[in-house]
Amino acid sequence: MRSIGRILAFGKSLWRYYVVIGVVSVLTAALELTPPLLTKVATDQIVELVQHKPSQLAIVVWAVIGILLAGAFVAVLSNIAGYLGDVMSSRLRKILSAGYFRHLLTLPQTYFDNELTGTLINRLNRSITNVSEFMKMLSNMLMSWLLTTVLTIGVITFFSWQLGLIVFAIYPVFFFMTLKTSKRWMVYEKEKNFHTDVASGRFAEAVSQVKVVKSFMRESTELRFFNRHLTSYVDQTYPQARVWHVQDVYRRLVLELAFFAMVFYTIYQTYHSRFSIGEMVMLLQFIIGLRLPLSALSFIVDQTQQAVAGSKDFFEAMELEAEEADTHRDKHLHVTEGKIEFQDVSFRYSEGKDVLKNISFTVEPRAKFAPVGESGGGKTTLTNLLMRLYTPQSGSILIDGQDINRVSQKSVRENIGVVFQEAELFSGTIQENIAYGNPEASEEAVVAAAQAANAHDFITQFSNGYSTQIGERGIKLSGGQRQRIAIARAVLKDAPILILDEATNALDSRSEALVQDALERLMFGRTTIVIAHRLSTIGGVDQIITLRGGTIDEAGPPSQLAATDGVYAQLLALQDASLERQQSELEKYGIAIGER
Ligand SMILES: Nc1ncnc2c1ncn2[C@@H]1O[C@H](COP(=O)(O)OP(=O)(O)O)[C@@H](O)[C@H]1O
Ligand SMILES: [Mg+2]
Repeated sequence: MRSIGRILAFGKSLWRYYVVIGVVSVLTAALELTPPLLTKVATDQIVELVQHKPSQLAIVVWAVIGILLAGAFVAVLSNIAGYLGDVMSSRLRKILSAGYFRHLLTLPQTYFDNELTGTLINRLNRSITNVSEFMKMLSNMLMSWLLTTVLTIGVITFFSWQLGLIVFAIYPVFFFMTLKTSKRWMVYEKEKNFHTDVASGRFAEAVSQVKVVKSFMRESTELRFFNRHLTSYVDQTYPQARVWHVQDVYRRLVLELAFFAMVFYTIYQTYHSRFSIGEMVMLLQFIIGLRLPLSALSFIVDQTQQAVAGSKDFFEAMELEAEEADTHRDKHLHVTEGKIEFQDVSFRYSEGKDVLKNISFTVEPRAKFAPVGESGGGKTTLTNLLMRLYTPQSGSILIDGQDINRVSQKSVRENIGVVFQEAELFSGTIQENIAYGNPEASEEAVVAAAQAANAHDFITQFSNGYSTQIGERGIKLSGGQRQRIAIARAVLKDAPILILDEATNALDSRSEALVQDALERLMFGRTTIVIAHRLSTIGGVDQIITLRGGTIDEAGPPSQLAATDGVYAQLLALQDASLERQQSELEKYGIAIGER
């Protein structure tokens, strides 16, 4: 019940709906009571009439008309509640979904490292569907059912406390039985949800990388994985449904006994003239009227449980802590020249060993800085920390003397442009993708950015030019084209600090030349951290650090490092190597072999 309260509270902007639906439901329930009451009046009059006692036919006629009117009002009112319920539940769905998405976007990168996209989507859909469907049913029928039940029991008790006693005795038993089953039901439900979450997670992953699946001919394996989890899902349904329905037979039998007792008692009392015929007919109608909502109680509980289970997942996700950004929301980073300092920074991901240990270095304004190190050496991690996707366990990172952990996260990211190895575009047009960070940018600005990124020429060759749809994550473009769109996107963002993480790695040498040329233009006048795979690129920077085992091995300008016998010098020497063993050494550092 608490969860339902929380859901209602979450959609508190819908309070008008709650009120109107509540009032309409009460009216409906009250009206539902009138036909048996009127039947009683009519029956008693008819009995008198048949026995030739003084009575009024008019009362019978009016009573019957009253029944008709009550029925008509109920038909209208319940549909008003139904209409409002439909609208309310879809609005609630929107509120819950938007709230979930908004919250998800504030969660730290770590959260996304550990969850599959498909799982997140599945969980969202399940929880929110359950919850909003429940709300819809609540307003369409559950609410008036419940009220009708309560009122009916009240009226029955008014006419005969003995009958009331039977209902009151049976209810706790019935409720207790339901509760007991529902606990066991929930255990299975959780397990079922787990399996669909896992299956959906993999589903989304396989579909989004379907090329790999096809090329490794893993279709059947992926399908098997999916099937296995869905089979487990079904497997859990057998005992779950069994528990529920076997118990429901018991519950219903208990109910039937109670009904039998009530009917028997009513007839017996009438036989002894303690109830009039009219009262008997009325009471029997009430008793029969109770059957539907009471035996449907299992269904109501079923729906409620799903809503509770769904809302649990929802609120669990909603309670996860957002990035710490919020605490410094109002202090902004002011980048004047773009100097970056790492002071004694140590970092490890949530699991695993230290990736960086006591790293300190300074990148001068507008300088180019290249971390060099083996693959997995922590180069990307350095840039992740600078963007504040993760927080170091110790040490601090300063931009122009301001600790990035003490200013708003937004202001940090505003000042950093990025180009990654994978261009990571979105479905939509080329124009939209270039302007992703500045949707307000003018057409000329977009074109200028594309020109600077060596992208304008190929874009204008498409028949739709800048309006060309590029497909999911830009799948309809070549790697080099995607990368140049990504560069144009960074050009347009025009941030004083730039991160290039293996931006040319995935490219063939011709598009690499075009991209490299675009990158040079992009880097101009910005403080740049460039992670590159060509010694020629690395050789052109102002400062290099080489990372080994999480610490800085050597630091300095390329010319100086070339003269030592450190890692960089060795890499330079290996560049011309022909020995396979030496080449594999280069590959370890992600350095390109051959052509400089
Ligand atoms: N999101 C993550 N969660 C846990 N460990 C990670 C994560 N990203 C990278 N790592 C680990 O951190 C180390 C450094 O990775 P990275 O900085 O990406 O290396 P590279 O120098 O190749 O860019 C690696 O050992 C990698 O396994
Ligand atoms: Mg990397």
